[in-house]
Amino acid sequence: MALDLDPTRWHPEMIRGRRVYLQRHRPDQFPAVLRWYRDPEVARLTRFQVGPVSDEEVRRFFQSRLLSPDAFAYAIHRADDDRLIGTTTLSALDPDNGTVLFHITVGERDSWGQGLGTEATALMVGHAIEVLGLHRVGLSVFEFNARAIRAYEKVGFRVEGRSREALWRDGAYWDEIHMGILEGEWRSGWGRRSGDGRRSREDDVASGDRAPEDMAALDREPARATLRYGRR
Ligand SMILES: CC(C)(COP(=O)(O)OP(=O)(O)OC[C@H]1O[C@@H](n2cnc3c(N)ncnc32)[C@H](O)[C@@H]1OP(=O)(O)O)[C@@H](O)C(=O)NCCC(=O)NCCS
Repeated sequence: MALDLDPTRWHPEMIRGRRVYLQRHRPDQFPAVLRWYRDPEVARLTRFQVGPVSDEEVRRFFQSRLLSPDAFAYAIHRADDDRLIGTTTLSALDPDNGTVLFHITVGERDSWGQGLGTEATALMVGHAIEVLGLHRVGLSVFEFNARAIRAYEKVGFRVEGRSREALWRDGAYWDEIHMGILEGEWRSGWGRRSGDGRRSREDDVASGDRAPEDMAALDREPARATLRYGRR
């Protein structure tokens, strides 16, 4: 396969969801990114080496992986108040085999556990499959990062394998878990029907993922992600 798309379509300025939107990074976001990457808890959850990082290392990462026009990266913003809360990227895009790797860091801890990371993940996977036309999205996550694993499972990722005891943390060895989602799984799960990433509650009930009596509980759930493109 080949990516033969207008750049404004394959890497749009913005990808909108309901509770978050993704927007290309701006240079003035460096201080926030530096603060996230210096947070010991974020480091514990995301990095093999948890030693302190220098400003220069983070700046190089910010320039090359988040800001560069060659990087497929987005800042994650809350839709309710536009606040910048994290960053998400695709890497190792392989158009010949239709594969890519997914990464996410919600750096603002007070935004964890509200469904925002799950929605941002769904927006990126939906974009990779629906717009870029890719077949598979993969990721890796540390075994003890239960919040991340649960968020990925909600979007439809499955555990595919593990590098056993690849990480020494908090006095124990842990596995690095490899997860993936295939085009067909996305389309029959979160991305079902509309083809734009939207999955309705009725879809959940129809698929048997939710019992009809769970509808009241669903009313309290964060809205599912939708994909919409364009400048704000
Ligand atoms: C991982 C991350 C993207 C998840 O986003 P989030 O917005 O915090 O997560 P969500 O609220 O969308 O979903 C989290 C789910 O995990 C569940 N969860 C939270 N803590 C949990 C725990 N200790 N054990 C099991 N499940 C847990 C939540 O209940 C929720 O599931 P539910 O909706 O079924 O109740 C975000 O927390 C983050 O970026 N963390 C820091 C960096 C990181 O870990 N990045 C990933 C590296 S692979």
